Amino acid sequence: MKVRALLACTECGQQLAQWAGRCPGCGAWGTIEADSTGTASSSRVVIRNLDVTVEAQERIRTGFSGIDRVLGGGLVPGSVTLLAGEPGIGKSTLLLQLLGNLSAAGLDCLLASGEESREQVGTRARRLGIPGDAVSFTAGRELPAVVEAAHGARPFLLAVDSIQSLRDPESGGIVGGTAQVRSSADALVGLAKQQNIAVLMTGHVTKDGDVAGPRTLEHAVDVVLSFEGDVRTGQRVLAGGKNRFGTEGEVAWFEMAGDGLHEIDPADRLASGEGRPGSAIALPMAGRRALAVEVQSLVVPTDGSARRQVAGLDAKRFQLIAAVVDRLAGFPLTRADLYATASGGVRIDDPGCDLAIAAALASAATGVAPPAGTAFVGEVGLTGEVRPVASMGQRVGVARTQGLSSVYGPASETAGVRYVRTVSQALGWAAMAGTARGGVRYSDETPE
Ligand code: TYD
Ligand code: MG
Repeated sequence: MKVRALLACTECGQQLAQWAGRCPGCGAWGTIEADSTGTASSSRVVIRNLDVTVEAQERIRTGFSGIDRVLGGGLVPGSVTLLAGEPGIGKSTLLLQLLGNLSAAGLDCLLASGEESREQVGTRARRLGIPGDAVSFTAGRELPAVVEAAHGARPFLLAVDSIQSLRDPESGGIVGGTAQVRSSADALVGLAKQQNIAVLMTGHVTKDGDVAGPRTLEHAVDVVLSFEGDVRTGQRVLAGGKNRFGTEGEVAWFEMAGDGLHEIDPADRLASGEGRPGSAIALPMAGRRALAVEVQSLVVPTDGSARRQVAGLDAKRFQLIAAVVDRLAGFPLTRADLYATASGGVRIDDPGCDLAIAAALASAATGVAPPAGTAFVGEVGLTGEVRPVASMGQRVGVARTQGLSSVYGPASETAGVRYVRTVSQALGWAAMAGTARGGVRYSDETPE
């Protein structure tokens, strides 16, 4: 009896019963595919039923609770993870700190760097407080040498920095080009699966998408993490993309300091500005988590051309909200410089923070602080309505854990929410108190 071979090399036709990163026949990388032509004798192909005991996926803690959360509980042995990010964002630093943590937990780690020399990595390790003998190093420019080193050392984790710096002599194209990056990644995936070595590779993305792209690698790897932030500020976010072992959309927050990356929880950074004029609490969603973040605003009357300047907020959205607060809620803002920031270096893109920005502006314009212990949630529409947003329950939950007693928002059903339909209603506290100070047209609507 003849049965079909499951796999074969597209280069030399060698048939295989098991997938391999490199063809044992001709040595080509990434050429093993489902066989469409050949046959093989039944003795070579073992066919079994699927009745296996499914054990809970083993997880290795990374020493960063946020990274464990993003990974879905920790690092899975034999998994392949891509850490993507712009140059200079801190990928190599994060990688080295992860290796430091894992090796401190007794797991062997091998770093293959094609970006930096052993001396450079050693110097950085010292700066990060990682003992020089904790992590093994090999040059990461030649793919076969890296694969060989990993075969020899059999580490728990092979870190490759970066996938773009590897050269596969069997593949064409320029180093860092799509063909090279793909064949190198395929070889590393093969290595991970055959040897049960976890592989963590960095990949550069450019601002305008990707050149020889991590995005073209997404299908090959198990997990994609992207490391983001403003290179000029210390704030960094590790966001989970594709994840074969967990949920997408989780995030972890870091701050880059002189001695490396420190994990932070923006919720802890709820600044003490609460209760001061110009300050309002927003409840943005970051991945699947809600956060409490303080929005601060300053309104400075001017005779010249009015400036609008924001940090951590979307500038266009801010202008729109300012226009609504001015025109429809009756707080004159046109002849003033307007400034707004999200405190703690957090970046807010969530439209659910619109109402908090409006509240900070109204508060800054009138000099009246929002009611104590209040947060604001809702998207602001051009007609001055407050629109419902997703995840209201979670946002209110976070407000509660932060000790905030009330949330102004567009949800009439959610417990703990003070229902508001319009921006004027939500800013009633500023309007009423503002009249006493003069200069502000006030709205007679008050929250229900
Ligand atoms: P790096 O990890 O080299 O970025 P990538 O690998 O993504 O290109 O780090 C980039 C920046 O981080 C670099 O400009 C210096 C800074 N840095 C710190 O501020 N503190 C530190 O402890 C380290 C190691 C780096
Ligand atoms: Mg680097």
